[in-house]
Amino acid sequence: MMDETLPPSEQSAELDTLMLIIKSFLEHLEYTLGKDKYSATRHDIFNALAYAVRDRMVERWLDTQQAYYNQDPKRIYYLSMEFLMGRTLENSLVNLGLLDDFRDAMNSLGFDLDVLIDQEQDAGLGNGGLGRLAACFLDSMATMGIPGYGYGIRYEYGIFRQNIVDGAQVEYPDNWLRYRNPWELDRQEHLHPVKFYGRVVERKNAEGNTVFAWIDTEDVMAMAYDTPIPGFGTNSVNTMRLWTAKSSRDFDLTFFNEGNYIRAVEKKMLSENISKVLYPADHIPEGKELRFKQEYFLASATIQDVIYRFRKNHSDLRLIPDKVAIQLNDTHPSLAIPEMMRLLMDRERLDWDTAWDITTRTFAYTNHTILPEALEKWPVWFLEQILPRHLQIIYEINDRFLAQVRQHFPGDTGRLERMSLVEEHWERKIRMAHLAIVGSHSVNGVAALHTEILKEKVFTDFFEMWPERFNNKTNGITQRRWLKSANPGQAGLISRAIGDGWITDLDQLRKLADLAKDRDFIHAWQRVKQENKKRLADYIFRNNELQVNVDSLFDCQVKRIHEYKRQLLNVLHVITLYNRIKAAPAGDFVPRTVIFSGKAAPAYALAKLIIRLINAVGDVVNNDPDVGDRLKVVFLANYSVSLAEKIFPASDLSEQISTAGTEASGTGNMKFALNGALTIGTLDGANIEIMEEVGRENIFIFGMTAGEVDELRRRGYDPRDYYHRIPELKRVLDQIAEGFFSPATPDLFRPVVDALLNQGDNYMLLADYASYVACQEEVSRLYLDPDEWARRAILNCAGMGKFSSDRTIAEYARDIWGVEQMEVRPVLEFRKHDGPA
Ligand code: IMP
Repeated sequence: MMDETLPPSEQSAELDTLMLIIKSFLEHLEYTLGKDKYSATRHDIFNALAYAVRDRMVERWLDTQQAYYNQDPKRIYYLSMEFLMGRTLENSLVNLGLLDDFRDAMNSLGFDLDVLIDQEQDAGLGNGGLGRLAACFLDSMATMGIPGYGYGIRYEYGIFRQNIVDGAQVEYPDNWLRYRNPWELDRQEHLHPVKFYGRVVERKNAEGNTVFAWIDTEDVMAMAYDTPIPGFGTNSVNTMRLWTAKSSRDFDLTFFNEGNYIRAVEKKMLSENISKVLYPADHIPEGKELRFKQEYFLASATIQDVIYRFRKNHSDLRLIPDKVAIQLNDTHPSLAIPEMMRLLMDRERLDWDTAWDITTRTFAYTNHTILPEALEKWPVWFLEQILPRHLQIIYEINDRFLAQVRQHFPGDTGRLERMSLVEEHWERKIRMAHLAIVGSHSVNGVAALHTEILKEKVFTDFFEMWPERFNNKTNGITQRRWLKSANPGQAGLISRAIGDGWITDLDQLRKLADLAKDRDFIHAWQRVKQENKKRLADYIFRNNELQVNVDSLFDCQVKRIHEYKRQLLNVLHVITLYNRIKAAPAGDFVPRTVIFSGKAAPAYALAKLIIRLINAVGDVVNNDPDVGDRLKVVFLANYSVSLAEKIFPASDLSEQISTAGTEASGTGNMKFALNGALTIGTLDGANIEIMEEVGRENIFIFGMTAGEVDELRRRGYDPRDYYHRIPELKRVLDQIAEGFFSPATPDLFRPVVDALLNQGDNYMLLADYASYVACQEEVSRLYLDPDEWARRAILNCAGMGKFSSDRTIAEYARDIWGVEQMEVRPVLEFRKHDGPA
């Protein structure tokens, strides 16, 4: 709506902006898409709108990129196999400061911007925390004016779409590019060959030195697609560059020569498979050849690009560490280390020592998991066949590294074996984490506890050798997406109370602490939460045909389904509540709606069975007239960034209940607390730091500590002790095992109980059960006092300053990368097109 309180000159500028938006939209509809009012589909409307928004970003993007060349700052390259970006339209408009203008413009054309926003497909190029972290980091780097790049793969199919059919997960392909991706710009000129297979030959050069050539390779071309990443409230727009595989033109001359045209084309097509699909396993490497190729594809294309860009302004490659920082998001892109060595030596003709010095001063590695089964190891024979030159380089790195170890720890052969980059079991494997540590100058964990565990348990040998290399960078989230965009009600309330400085300085939320005592503020806070809960209840009704009580406690556990995250412990509690209601149907119970959402890796049978169990328990509980609306169990299908944006604002209780010492950080925990949910959690990952920030009295902590978990394991853990000792627990497990929730197939859920009682209960659910249930009773008691609940929720939000990804990025920039924020002009005017500069 036109703001009539503005002076006439500003009203006319607003009108100007509105007209420009409308013109831009209509031009894209007609000229870019070739549509008119008769032929435009809803996708065309969305795309024309998106192009109009992208134009605004491109203006700022070109300015920013030119500034990077002109000022030549150190740049940071964030390499990640996953970028879980979610939707782009709303976030871009928020960051550009153009949300209201575009809303008005679309409104005047008869379109509802919110409907268009909700129509966008998620870019789901990630599995969970690691990929979403990368996306939050891009937002922070752009907002803070840090010359940063995200480099990844443009998967044609992102994370699968999850449907629930008869209670079970069914996977469907995520064909996210079907209606085009209007945000990206294809860069046909940014093309790098990526080599595979072939063999290595040695020869002497003119100076008599041995040089290596990797020949007879099968080459695949990596082609760049750029997505502009706008910062909030600045002119700065960074780049996310994703690679797609294209067959090289001279790919299979042999087949052409033999006249086998179809075979030649087939091989071309096969090479393009590399960027076809994201592997959907989180915390469980699949060990597949195609995945290995994907990892190298990202590494090689990116390092070639980095060197190419560096060379535009510099000739002395020894300056790379002064101008380039590379962060490895887990070990997935760590083949970039031997690739950098290969390019510096074989292509650029540097000697080993110089190349190694450049490489180690440039690279840094972030570890994301301590689950032993999740640490990547690639069979040596993969490298022998697919990357023979890299295997040589890795062996050489290892020889030199082990010599250093021998010097540090003479006579300690056990240590040599433990630290070697090569695992010598029946199948020899390369330990990618060891490669990443040895090839980097920094190794960081993602929460304080996690970093301590890395130092003391997982990489102790390395820590003893290079203590200075290890550091912690507690994860964070961007408040622009996770509060300002996702929860406009709460964001508006906060801004009215303390101003909007928190959008770029989240520590300012501390000012809310004073308001936690203010009755009016508390009531306004409760109204916002209630509105958000109504919206989610509508969504649940539309999607699950289930009516939930909006006055009930919305108790949410949304994340990947994994044994260590213990959704099953939550289910044990739900069944306990159900049994209690059934035992005293007239009793007083605090009503709860327990909401689950999350995907299971398609090959992870037990995780999929847990999804079935949740739905089976829901079937019984939700349809039992004795229960009424005092307990409901909801499984929301297809957890994604855009669904998360609906759930967090509506949540009362955040379930962060992993076995202590297993979750590296978690970031959902931060998103919940920022949106005014209280946490029930273990002392695991970043939960500990959340507790420190919000106060022990404002969070529900239960269960064993990481130390107690270790101690119990050492003493010998017998889950059956708990089963026999706790009657409510025994009852619940017997019900699951005997088919109470699956009467038609009574044995269906027996494997779930077997895992707990007969296979050792690896994640110690039974040991934490009593403490969890008691803690949930405290939660229920507090919920009976809504003002006190809201007071604590406000204090939780007030304590979230630390968990902005802006803080995390500032620490990476200062401690690891040595990059600086660039002065960016805070201009947000709508540029009338003045042609290329
Ligand atoms: P890239 O760094 O090669 O990916 O180019 C990204 C953008 O930076 C280009 O589209 C140009 O806008 C800008 N750019 C590239 N090279 C130069 C240069 O040499 N000087 C100034 N700007 C440049």
